[in-house]
Amino acid sequence: MYETRNDLAPEVRGRMVELLNGRLADAIDLGAQAKQAHWNVKGPNFIALHELFDQVAEHVEDHIDTLAERITALGGTAKGTIAAVSRATSLKPYPLDITAGAQHVDSLSGAVADFGAKVRKAIDESARAGDAGTSDLFTGISREIDKDLWFLEAHLQAK
Ligand SMILES: [Fe+2]
Repeated sequence: MYETRNDLAPEVRGRMVELLNGRLADAIDLGAQAKQAHWNVKGPNFIALHELFDQVAEHVEDHIDTLAERITALGGTAKGTIAAVSRATSLKPYPLDITAGAQHVDSLSGAVADFGAKVRKAIDESARAGDAGTSDLFTGISREIDKDLWFLEAHLQAK
């Protein structure tokens, strides 16, 4: 941790940096999973899903930057390399052998939902630790992830 004039207690900053780095690893993994779906989806809904998956990847890219820069603002080091992320991610590996639109929608919504649940937990954890800024950051990400999950799951919800 780096010295800073930020008045949050050093132990709070340390805990938040750890929490944020966990979700940063998940977000970088999730962004790559969305791209994997974007590149490899096939079938009658190709163009709609190809574009939707890219939209998810773009939103996640914004979250990645927000998470990483909160880490450095708190005096920590953002661990954003592929090697670090592959050790730290808590998401399930994305399947490499699927092609159909429904399979990609199912796999990617599973990953988005898992990330969303962990971000929601982080809202409370950071609020309890006394860091309203980090909690607000997680709240913003959570709301957007809920919307992306809706966009994905709407493909599976028709009766
Ligand atoms: Fe593309």
